[in-house]
Amino acid sequence: MKKSIKAGFAVLTASALSLSGLAVQSSFAAVKHTAAPVTIVWYAGTISGNGLRADVISHFEKLYPNIHVKVVAEPNNTDTTRAQLISQISGGATSPDVYLGDVIWPGQFGSMHLALPLNKYLPKSFFNQFAPGLIAGASYKGNVYGSPWFQDSGFLYYRKDLLAKYHLPVPKTWEKLQQEAKFLLNKKAVKYGFVWQGASYEGLTCDWMEYLTDAGGHVFNAKGQPVMDSPAALHALNFMRGLITSGVSPRAVTTFTEPNTMNLFNAGQAAFLRNWDYAYTNSQTKGQSSVIGKVGVAPLPTFAGHGTAGYATIGGWDNYINPHTKHLAQDLLFVKYLASVQGETILATKASEIPTNNAVQHNPAVRRLNPVLSIVAEQHLIARPSQSPSYAKVSQAIYTNINAALSGQMSTANALKQANSQLASAQSSSSL
Ligand code: GLC
Repeated sequence: MKKSIKAGFAVLTASALSLSGLAVQSSFAAVKHTAAPVTIVWYAGTISGNGLRADVISHFEKLYPNIHVKVVAEPNNTDTTRAQLISQISGGATSPDVYLGDVIWPGQFGSMHLALPLNKYLPKSFFNQFAPGLIAGASYKGNVYGSPWFQDSGFLYYRKDLLAKYHLPVPKTWEKLQQEAKFLLNKKAVKYGFVWQGASYEGLTCDWMEYLTDAGGHVFNAKGQPVMDSPAALHALNFMRGLITSGVSPRAVTTFTEPNTMNLFNAGQAAFLRNWDYAYTNSQTKGQSSVIGKVGVAPLPTFAGHGTAGYATIGGWDNYINPHTKHLAQDLLFVKYLASVQGETILATKASEIPTNNAVQHNPAVRRLNPVLSIVAEQHLIARPSQSPSYAKVSQAIYTNINAALSGQMSTANALKQANSQLASAQSSSSL
Protein backbone atom coordinates (compact mmCIF):
# COMPACT_ATOMS: atom_id res chain seq x y z
CA MET A 1 0.00 0.00 0.00
CA LYS A 2 2.71 2.38 1.08
CA LYS A 3 4.59 1.56 -2.10
CA SER A 4 1.66 2.34 -4.40
CA ILE A 5 1.10 5.75 -2.80
CA LYS A 6 4.73 6.62 -3.35
CA ALA A 7 4.64 5.30 -6.90
CA GLY A 8 1.49 7.32 -7.59
CA PHE A 9 3.18 10.46 -6.35
CA ALA A 10 6.08 9.82 -8.68
CA VAL A 11 3.72 9.38 -11.65
CA LEU A 12 2.11 12.72 -10.95
CA THR A 13 5.44 14.45 -10.66
CA ALA A 14 6.72 12.90 -13.84
CA SER A 15 3.66 13.80 -15.88
CA ALA A 16 3.61 17.36 -14.53
CA LEU A 17 7.21 17.71 -15.64
CA SER A 18 6.37 16.18 -18.97
CA LEU A 19 3.75 18.88 -19.62
CA SER A 20 6.42 21.46 -19.09
CA GLY A 21 8.81 19.59 -21.41
CA LEU A 22 8.45 22.02 -24.31
CA ALA A 23 9.11 24.99 -22.09
CA VAL A 24 12.20 23.23 -20.77
CA GLN A 25 13.52 22.66 -24.28
CA SER A 26 13.12 26.29 -25.28
CA SER A 27 14.71 27.54 -22.09
CA PHE A 28 18.08 25.84 -22.80
CA ALA A 29 19.54 28.95 -24.39
CA ALA A 30 18.36 31.11 -21.52
CA VAL A 31 20.04 28.82 -18.98
CA LYS A 32 23.35 29.35 -20.67
CA HIS A 33 23.47 33.12 -20.43
CA THR A 34 20.94 34.67 -18.11
CA ALA A 35 19.76 32.28 -15.40
CA ALA A 36 21.03 32.66 -11.85
CA PRO A 37 23.75 30.17 -10.85
CA VAL A 38 22.39 26.75 -9.96
CA THR A 39 24.13 23.76 -8.37
CA ILE A 40 23.09 20.30 -9.47
CA VAL A 41 24.16 17.09 -7.75
CA TRP A 42 25.54 14.22 -9.85
CA TYR A 43 25.69 10.89 -8.08
CA ALA A 44 28.49 9.00 -9.82
CA GLY A 45 31.06 6.30 -9.12
CA THR A 46 34.82 6.77 -9.23
CA ILE A 47 35.19 4.92 -12.57
CA SER A 48 38.96 4.57 -12.82
CA GLY A 49 40.08 6.83 -10.02
CA ASN A 50 41.97 9.25 -12.23
CA GLY A 51 39.99 12.46 -12.02
CA LEU A 52 37.68 11.72 -14.94
CA ARG A 53 34.59 13.14 -13.23
CA ALA A 54 36.42 16.34 -12.31
CA ASP A 55 37.60 16.74 -15.91
CA VAL A 56 34.18 16.42 -17.52
CA ILE A 57 32.67 18.73 -14.92
CA SER A 58 35.28 21.41 -15.36
CA HIS A 59 34.80 21.33 -19.13
CA PHE A 60 31.01 21.48 -18.76
CA GLU A 61 31.21 24.38 -16.31
CA LYS A 62 33.30 26.34 -18.80
CA LEU A 63 30.56 25.88 -21.39
CA TYR A 64 27.80 26.71 -18.88
CA PRO A 65 29.24 29.05 -16.24
CA ASN A 66 25.88 29.35 -14.47
CA ILE A 67 25.67 25.66 -13.68
CA HIS A 68 27.81 24.13 -10.99
CA VAL A 69 27.94 20.34 -10.75
CA LYS A 70 28.66 18.78 -7.37
CA VAL A 71 29.70 15.13 -7.41
CA VAL A 72 28.52 12.81 -4.68
CA ALA A 73 30.39 9.50 -4.80
CA GLU A 74 28.39 6.35 -5.38
CA PRO A 75 29.45 3.13 -3.61
CA ASN A 76 31.41 0.85 -5.94
CA ASN A 77 28.92 -2.01 -5.62
CA THR A 78 26.00 -1.75 -8.05
CA ASP A 79 23.58 -3.51 -5.66
CA THR A 80 24.30 -1.05 -2.83
CA THR A 81 23.93 1.93 -5.16
CA ARG A 82 20.62 0.60 -6.47
CA ALA A 83 19.24 0.06 -2.96
CA GLN A 84 20.26 3.59 -1.90
CA LEU A 85 18.69 5.23 -4.93
CA ILE A 86 15.46 3.27 -4.62
CA SER A 87 15.06 4.31 -1.00
CA GLN A 88 15.93 7.98 -1.63
CA ILE A 89 13.95 8.56 -4.80
CA SER A 90 10.88 6.56 -3.83
CA GLY A 91 10.88 8.64 -0.63
CA GLY A 92 10.61 11.79 -2.80
CA ALA A 93 14.18 13.11 -2.44
CA THR A 94 14.96 15.91 -4.92
CA SER A 95 18.68 15.08 -4.85
CA PRO A 96 20.67 13.72 -6.62
CA ASP A 97 19.46 15.54 -9.74
CA VAL A 98 21.34 13.27 -12.14
CA TYR A 99 22.68 9.85 -11.31
CA LEU A 100 24.89 7.34 -13.04
CA GLY A 101 23.01 4.07 -13.00
CA ASP A 102 23.60 0.54 -14.21
CA VAL A 103 22.35 -0.54 -17.66
CA ILE A 104 20.31 -3.28 -15.98
CA TRP A 105 18.02 -0.86 -14.14
CA PRO A 106 15.55 0.53 -16.72
CA GLY A 107 12.98 -2.26 -16.13
CA GLN A 108 12.81 -1.72 -12.39
CA PHE A 109 13.44 2.04 -12.34
CA GLY A 110 11.01 2.65 -15.20
CA SER A 111 8.25 0.58 -13.63
CA MET A 112 8.77 2.24 -10.21
CA HIS A 113 9.02 5.78 -11.69
CA LEU A 114 12.48 6.32 -10.25
CA ALA A 115 13.83 7.87 -13.44
CA LEU A 116 12.47 10.40 -15.89
CA PRO A 117 11.50 9.14 -19.38
CA LEU A 118 14.16 11.11 -21.28
CA ASN A 119 12.45 10.68 -24.65
CA LYS A 120 9.76 13.10 -23.45
CA TYR A 121 12.36 15.88 -23.10
CA LEU A 122 15.08 15.20 -25.64
CA PRO A 123 14.67 15.06 -29.43
CA LYS A 124 15.08 11.93 -31.58
CA SER A 125 18.40 13.28 -32.87
CA PHE A 126 19.82 13.00 -29.35
CA PHE A 127 19.16 9.25 -29.25
CA ASN A 128 20.46 8.72 -32.80
CA GLN A 129 24.02 9.52 -31.77
CA PHE A 130 24.38 6.27 -29.77
CA ALA A 131 25.63 2.90 -30.96
CA PRO A 132 22.69 0.73 -32.08
CA GLY A 133 21.11 -1.46 -29.42
CA LEU A 134 22.04 0.78 -26.51
CA ILE A 135 18.80 2.73 -26.57
CA ALA A 136 16.79 -0.49 -26.66
CA GLY A 137 18.70 -1.58 -23.55
CA ALA A 138 17.98 1.75 -21.83
CA SER A 139 14.24 1.49 -22.52
CA TYR A 140 11.27 0.00 -20.77
CA LYS A 141 7.77 -0.17 -22.31
CA GLY A 142 8.62 2.31 -25.06
CA ASN A 143 10.27 4.98 -22.89
CA VAL A 144 14.01 5.65 -22.70
CA TYR A 145 15.17 6.08 -19.12
CA GLY A 146 18.95 6.18 -19.41
CA SER A 147 21.34 8.19 -21.54
CA PRO A 148 24.17 5.73 -22.17
CA TRP A 149 27.53 7.04 -20.97
CA PHE A 150 29.88 4.09 -21.24
CA GLN A 151 29.58 0.50 -22.26
CA ASP A 152 31.31 -2.14 -20.18
CA SER A 153 32.21 -5.64 -21.23
CA GLY A 154 34.32 -8.37 -19.70
CA PHE A 155 37.98 -8.67 -20.76
CA LEU A 156 40.93 -10.86 -19.90
CA TYR A 157 43.87 -8.94 -18.44
CA TYR A 158 47.18 -10.75 -18.28
CA ARG A 159 50.75 -10.17 -17.21
CA LYS A 160 52.49 -9.89 -20.55
CA ASP A 161 55.93 -9.87 -18.89
CA LEU A 162 55.29 -13.27 -17.29
CA LEU A 163 53.82 -14.84 -20.42
CA ALA A 164 56.84 -13.62 -22.39
CA LYS A 165 59.35 -14.86 -19.80
CA TYR A 166 57.91 -18.39 -19.87
CA HIS A 167 57.01 -18.38 -23.60
CA LEU A 168 53.30 -18.82 -22.94
CA PRO A 169 50.70 -17.70 -25.51
CA VAL A 170 47.73 -15.53 -24.53
CA PRO A 171 45.17 -18.24 -23.65
CA LYS A 172 42.22 -18.57 -25.99
CA THR A 173 40.47 -21.31 -24.04
CA TRP A 174 39.49 -21.56 -20.37
CA GLU A 175 41.34 -24.87 -20.11
CA LYS A 176 44.55 -23.28 -21.41
CA LEU A 177 44.19 -20.36 -19.01
CA GLN A 178 43.87 -22.77 -16.10
CA GLN A 179 46.91 -24.73 -17.25
CA GLU A 180 49.08 -21.60 -17.69
CA ALA A 181 47.99 -20.17 -14.36
CA LYS A 182 48.93 -23.45 -12.65
CA PHE A 183 52.31 -23.38 -14.39
CA LEU A 184 53.01 -19.82 -13.20
CA LEU A 185 51.96 -20.77 -9.67
CA ASN A 186 54.32 -23.75 -9.71
CA LYS A 187 57.14 -21.45 -10.84
CA LYS A 188 56.24 -19.17 -7.90
CA ALA A 189 55.96 -16.30 -10.41
CA VAL A 190 52.76 -15.08 -8.71
CA LYS A 191 50.76 -15.72 -5.57
CA TYR A 192 47.43 -16.20 -7.38
CA GLY A 193 46.74 -17.60 -10.82
CA PHE A 194 43.41 -16.09 -11.83
CA VAL A 195 41.17 -13.62 -10.00
CA TRP A 196 37.58 -12.77 -10.85
CA GLN A 197 34.30 -11.68 -9.24
CA GLY A 198 32.90 -14.60 -7.23
CA ALA A 199 31.11 -12.87 -4.32
CA SER A 200 27.37 -13.27 -3.90
CA TYR A 201 26.28 -10.14 -5.85
CA GLU A 202 25.48 -8.82 -9.33
CA GLY A 203 29.11 -9.10 -10.46
CA LEU A 204 28.97 -12.89 -10.13
CA THR A 205 25.90 -13.03 -12.37
CA CYS A 206 28.03 -11.20 -14.96
CA ASP A 207 30.94 -13.65 -14.70
CA TRP A 208 28.54 -16.61 -14.71
CA MET A 209 26.83 -15.44 -17.93
CA GLU A 210 30.20 -15.65 -19.68
CA TYR A 211 31.02 -19.26 -18.71
CA LEU A 212 27.41 -20.36 -19.16
CA THR A 213 27.15 -18.90 -22.67
CA ASP A 214 30.60 -20.23 -23.66
CA ALA A 215 29.41 -23.71 -22.66
CA GLY A 216 26.28 -23.28 -24.84
CA GLY A 217 23.84 -22.76 -21.97
CA HIS A 218 21.14 -20.16 -21.26
CA VAL A 219 19.27 -18.75 -18.26
CA PHE A 220 15.88 -18.72 -20.03
CA ASN A 221 14.75 -20.38 -23.26
CA ALA A 222 12.99 -18.53 -26.09
CA LYS A 223 9.64 -19.02 -24.32
CA GLY A 224 11.03 -17.35 -21.20
CA GLN A 225 11.20 -20.54 -19.13
CA PRO A 226 14.23 -21.04 -16.85
CA VAL A 227 16.67 -23.60 -18.31
CA MET A 228 19.70 -23.20 -16.08
CA ASP A 229 19.58 -26.78 -14.86
CA SER A 230 21.28 -28.07 -18.03
CA PRO A 231 24.37 -30.16 -18.90
CA ALA A 232 26.00 -27.02 -20.39
CA ALA A 233 25.45 -25.10 -17.16
CA LEU A 234 26.86 -27.99 -15.16
CA HIS A 235 29.97 -28.03 -17.34
CA ALA A 236 30.42 -24.27 -16.77
CA LEU A 237 29.89 -24.46 -13.01
CA ASN A 238 32.12 -27.50 -12.54
CA PHE A 239 34.87 -25.65 -14.37
CA MET A 240 34.50 -22.56 -12.15
CA ARG A 241 34.51 -24.67 -9.00
CA GLY A 242 37.58 -26.48 -10.39
CA LEU A 243 39.43 -23.16 -10.66
CA ILE A 244 39.12 -22.95 -6.88
CA THR A 245 39.73 -26.60 -5.95
CA SER A 246 42.82 -26.72 -8.21
CA GLY A 247 44.25 -23.67 -6.42
CA VAL A 248 44.32 -21.57 -9.61
CA SER A 249 41.89 -19.12 -7.98
CA PRO A 250 42.09 -18.52 -4.23
CA ARG A 251 39.23 -19.73 -1.99
CA ALA A 252 38.62 -16.09 -1.13
CA VAL A 253 37.52 -15.48 -4.74
CA THR A 254 34.00 -16.33 -3.50
CA THR A 255 34.10 -13.03 -1.56
CA PHE A 256 35.73 -10.90 -4.28
CA THR A 257 34.06 -7.95 -5.99
CA GLU A 258 35.79 -5.85 -8.67
CA PRO A 259 37.98 -3.74 -6.33
CA ASN A 260 39.41 -6.83 -4.55
CA THR A 261 40.46 -8.39 -7.84
CA MET A 262 41.80 -5.10 -9.20
CA ASN A 263 43.93 -4.47 -6.12
CA LEU A 264 45.51 -7.93 -6.20
CA PHE A 265 46.29 -7.61 -9.89
CA ASN A 266 47.71 -4.10 -9.46
CA ALA A 267 49.86 -5.37 -6.60
CA GLY A 268 51.44 -7.86 -9.02
CA GLN A 269 49.97 -10.84 -7.18
CA ALA A 270 47.82 -12.36 -9.93
CA ALA A 271 48.74 -13.59 -13.40
CA PHE A 272 45.25 -13.24 -14.91
CA LEU A 273 42.27 -11.01 -14.14
CA ARG A 274 38.71 -10.92 -15.48
CA ASN A 275 37.42 -7.38 -15.24
CA TRP A 276 35.66 -4.55 -17.09
CA ASP A 277 37.11 -1.91 -19.46
CA TYR A 278 38.34 0.45 -16.75
CA ALA A 279 40.84 -2.12 -15.49
CA TYR A 280 43.34 -1.24 -18.17
CA THR A 281 43.71 2.43 -17.19
CA ASN A 282 43.44 1.46 -13.55
CA SER A 283 46.38 -0.93 -13.87
CA GLN A 284 48.44 1.72 -15.65
CA THR A 285 47.94 4.54 -13.15
CA LYS A 286 50.92 5.69 -11.13
CA GLY A 287 50.60 5.46 -7.39
CA GLN A 288 48.12 2.59 -7.44
CA SER A 289 49.79 -0.06 -9.56
CA SER A 290 53.05 -1.96 -9.59
CA VAL A 291 52.36 -3.51 -13.02
CA ILE A 292 52.63 -0.45 -15.24
CA GLY A 293 53.83 -1.49 -18.70
CA LYS A 294 53.33 -5.18 -17.87
CA VAL A 295 49.65 -5.66 -18.70
CA GLY A 296 47.99 -7.02 -21.83
CA VAL A 297 44.27 -7.16 -22.62
CA ALA A 298 42.46 -9.73 -24.77
CA PRO A 299 38.95 -11.01 -25.43
CA LEU A 300 37.91 -13.55 -22.79
CA PRO A 301 38.65 -17.22 -23.59
CA THR A 302 36.00 -19.82 -24.38
CA PHE A 303 35.81 -23.55 -23.67
CA ALA A 304 37.93 -25.77 -25.94
CA GLY A 305 36.02 -26.59 -29.11
CA HIS A 306 33.55 -23.71 -28.58
CA GLY A 307 34.75 -21.12 -31.12
CA THR A 308 37.52 -18.57 -31.26
CA ALA A 309 36.62 -16.11 -28.51
CA GLY A 310 34.54 -16.23 -25.38
CA TYR A 311 31.43 -14.31 -24.56
CA ALA A 312 31.68 -11.04 -22.66
CA THR A 313 28.79 -9.82 -20.54
CA ILE A 314 27.49 -6.39 -21.51
CA GLY A 315 27.49 -3.89 -18.69
CA GLY A 316 27.79 -0.17 -18.51
CA TRP A 317 26.40 2.94 -16.94
CA ASP A 318 23.80 5.44 -18.12
CA ASN A 319 22.87 8.88 -16.84
CA TYR A 320 19.37 9.00 -15.37
CA ILE A 321 17.42 12.03 -14.10
CA ASN A 322 15.59 12.02 -10.76
CA PRO A 323 11.86 12.68 -11.46
CA HIS A 324 11.74 14.97 -8.38
CA THR A 325 14.59 17.22 -9.50
CA LYS A 326 14.09 20.96 -9.15
CA HIS A 327 16.61 21.72 -11.94
CA LEU A 328 15.38 19.84 -14.97
CA ALA A 329 16.65 22.29 -17.61
CA GLN A 330 20.16 22.21 -16.12
CA ASP A 331 20.08 18.42 -15.69
CA LEU A 332 19.18 17.95 -19.33
CA LEU A 333 22.03 20.19 -20.43
CA PHE A 334 24.45 18.18 -18.33
CA VAL A 335 23.15 14.83 -19.60
CA LYS A 336 23.38 16.12 -23.18
CA TYR A 337 26.92 17.30 -22.59
CA LEU A 338 28.05 13.97 -21.10
CA ALA A 339 26.76 12.13 -24.18
CA SER A 340 28.26 14.64 -26.63
CA VAL A 341 31.38 14.11 -28.69
CA GLN A 342 33.29 16.36 -26.29
CA GLY A 343 32.14 14.63 -23.10
CA GLU A 344 32.61 11.16 -24.52
CA THR A 345 36.05 11.92 -25.94
CA ILE A 346 37.27 12.90 -22.48
CA LEU A 347 35.75 9.69 -21.08
CA ALA A 348 37.27 7.40 -23.70
CA THR A 349 40.74 8.88 -23.75
CA LYS A 350 41.18 9.59 -20.06
CA ALA A 351 39.77 6.22 -18.98
CA SER A 352 39.77 2.97 -20.95
CA GLU A 353 35.98 3.04 -21.23
CA ILE A 354 33.99 2.10 -24.34
CA PRO A 355 32.23 5.30 -25.40
CA THR A 356 28.57 5.03 -26.31
CA ASN A 357 28.60 7.93 -28.75
CA ASN A 358 28.98 6.35 -32.19
CA ALA A 359 31.25 9.01 -33.63
CA VAL A 360 33.65 8.78 -30.70
CA GLN A 361 33.58 4.97 -30.62
CA HIS A 362 34.63 4.84 -34.27
CA ASN A 363 37.22 7.59 -34.15
CA PRO A 364 40.65 6.00 -34.93
CA ALA A 365 42.46 8.62 -32.82
CA VAL A 366 40.41 7.64 -29.76
CA ARG A 367 40.99 3.97 -30.53
CA ARG A 368 44.76 4.46 -30.53
CA LEU A 369 44.67 5.92 -27.03
CA ASN A 370 42.32 3.29 -25.66
CA PRO A 371 43.61 -0.31 -26.01
CA VAL A 372 40.38 -1.98 -24.93
CA LEU A 373 38.50 -0.17 -27.70
CA SER A 374 40.67 -1.68 -30.38
CA ILE A 375 39.63 -5.25 -29.51
CA VAL A 376 35.91 -4.63 -28.96
CA ALA A 377 35.09 -5.84 -32.48
CA GLU A 378 36.59 -9.28 -31.70
CA GLN A 379 34.29 -9.87 -28.74
CA HIS A 380 31.08 -11.87 -28.60
CA LEU A 381 28.63 -10.07 -26.35
CA ILE A 382 25.95 -11.50 -24.11
CA ALA A 383 23.28 -9.46 -22.29
CA ARG A 384 21.85 -10.36 -18.91
CA PRO A 385 18.07 -11.05 -18.89
CA SER A 386 17.49 -7.62 -17.34
CA GLN A 387 14.48 -6.27 -19.22
CA SER A 388 11.97 -7.36 -16.59
CA PRO A 389 11.15 -5.16 -13.56
CA SER A 390 11.97 -8.12 -11.31
CA TYR A 391 15.48 -8.62 -12.73
CA ALA A 392 17.09 -7.98 -9.32
CA LYS A 393 15.32 -11.12 -8.04
CA VAL A 394 16.30 -13.08 -11.15
CA SER A 395 19.93 -12.16 -10.66
CA GLN A 396 19.77 -12.99 -6.97
CA ALA A 397 18.50 -16.49 -7.82
CA ILE A 398 21.59 -16.86 -10.01
CA TYR A 399 24.36 -15.40 -7.87
CA THR A 400 23.35 -16.82 -4.47
CA ASN A 401 23.25 -20.39 -5.80
CA ILE A 402 26.34 -20.13 -7.99
CA ASN A 403 28.19 -18.65 -5.01
CA ALA A 404 27.00 -21.49 -2.74
CA ALA A 405 28.38 -24.06 -5.21
CA LEU A 406 31.66 -22.19 -5.64
CA SER A 407 32.26 -22.08 -1.93
CA GLY A 408 31.41 -25.77 -1.58
CA GLN A 409 28.27 -25.30 0.52
CA MET A 410 26.19 -27.10 -2.07
CA SER A 411 26.94 -29.50 -4.93
CA THR A 412 27.10 -27.92 -8.37
CA ALA A 413 24.14 -30.03 -9.53
CA ASN A 414 21.96 -29.03 -6.57
CA ALA A 415 22.89 -25.37 -6.92
CA LEU A 416 21.65 -25.38 -10.53
CA LYS A 417 18.45 -27.19 -9.61
CA GLN A 418 17.75 -24.69 -6.85
CA ALA A 419 18.68 -21.71 -9.05
CA ASN A 420 16.24 -22.93 -11.68
CA SER A 421 13.32 -23.19 -9.31
CA GLN A 422 14.11 -19.80 -7.75
CA LEU A 423 14.31 -18.27 -11.25
CA ALA A 424 10.76 -19.43 -11.87
CA SER A 425 9.49 -17.79 -8.70
CA ALA A 426 11.57 -14.64 -9.30
CA GLN A 427 9.88 -14.23 -12.64
CA SER A 428 6.40 -14.51 -11.26
CA SER A 429 7.26 -12.36 -8.25
CA SER A 430 5.42 -9.05 -7.93
CA SER A 431 7.71 -7.69 -5.23
CA LEU A 432 10.77 -6.01 -6.67
C1 GLC B 1 29.98 -3.09 -13.89
C2 GLC B 1 28.99 -3.11 -15.05
C3 GLC B 1 27.59 -3.28 -14.55
C4 GLC B 1 27.50 -4.52 -13.68
C5 GLC B 1 28.48 -4.41 -12.53
C6 GLC B 1 28.49 -5.69 -11.70
O1 GLC B 1 29.82 -1.92 -13.16
O2 GLC B 1 29.10 -1.95 -15.82
O3 GLC B 1 26.69 -3.36 -15.64
O4 GLC B 1 26.19 -4.71 -13.20
O5 GLC B 1 29.78 -4.18 -13.02
O6 GLC B 1 29.36 -5.58 -10.62
